Amino acid sequence: MIDGKTKVCGLIGNPVEHTLSPLIHSTLAQYAGINLAYVPFLVERGCVKTAVDGAFALNVQGLNVTVPHKTEVMGALCETDALALRIGAVNTLVRAQGGYKGYNTDMSGLYRAMQTDGVELNGCSVILLGAGGAGRAVAFLCAFKGAEKIYILNRSLDKAQRLADEVNRETGRSSLVQAYEMNCYDRIPEGTYLAIQCTSVGLHPNEDEAVIEDAAFYARIHTGVDLIYRPSETKFMKMVRAAGGTAFNGLKMLVYQGVDAFELWNDVQISEDAALKVYELLQRKFSDNE
Ligand code: ATR
Repeated sequence: MIDGKTKVCGLIGNPVEHTLSPLIHSTLAQYAGINLAYVPFLVERGCVKTAVDGAFALNVQGLNVTVPHKTEVMGALCETDALALRIGAVNTLVRAQGGYKGYNTDMSGLYRAMQTDGVELNGCSVILLGAGGAGRAVAFLCAFKGAEKIYILNRSLDKAQRLADEVNRETGRSSLVQAYEMNCYDRIPEGTYLAIQCTSVGLHPNEDEAVIEDAAFYARIHTGVDLIYRPSETKFMKMVRAAGGTAFNGLKMLVYQGVDAFELWNDVQISEDAALKVYELLQRKFSDNE
């Protein structure tokens, strides 16, 4: 029930009509017993600063930010968290003195999701597939969380190389990240790897595609994490499993980016149990739709 004391949070992006965030946040609000309403706001390109200033004037407690505004919004903030600043993308705004502070809970959420699944980054050798917005964020996450070695594979090598150079420069570890073209995966040294799939290949409705289709590649992957959650088992995940590895989709990341944002907005701790309930709710929603 909305009343005079209801806190308002929301999402700015374009498009926003398919977002699952209202479901995530209203469920979390129920579990936490917090009087909060979460509203999707369609914001056109070029209107981000006006929208953020307006939200602040309207006493909006917090906002999520989605495509295409995650970088542009950084110009409308009073402060930005260190990891978000490095990544160059913000997906959560938290009300502070005189403006909003920006965070990247996509990445803190991915990290938390991986931790609950027992996937370690510290000391790990990682293969990243993709060097777009998501690949970039994950590369910085891996570097910040102690990955031993990171190989970035991307269709266009120049993008992967620029990202590798940037992470190496920022971390002061000149050989931490190495870039290869996507089909040059056999140049990666022998060993087994955690692979994080950050391309858009395999996303619904192109479910029968994987960005690498060679079984020999998957024989070297002990754990595969796909950021995609529709379909719930991507072809990448199928190939990891067929080769004997463990695979996860991106649904827990979606849940935990929401949990992290909710905790920042409301200064509360969400229990693992409540997070799991949201995860199961989303799983059911997708299995109904599939
Ligand atoms: P996001 O923000 O989701 O990362 P993006 O920035 O558009 O989206 O990046 C998409 C990623 O998927 C890129 O790594 C892209 O490769 P390029 O940088 O070479 O464009 C990758 N990608 C998309 N379609 C692909 C395809 N058909 N084959 C291989 N890689 C593909």
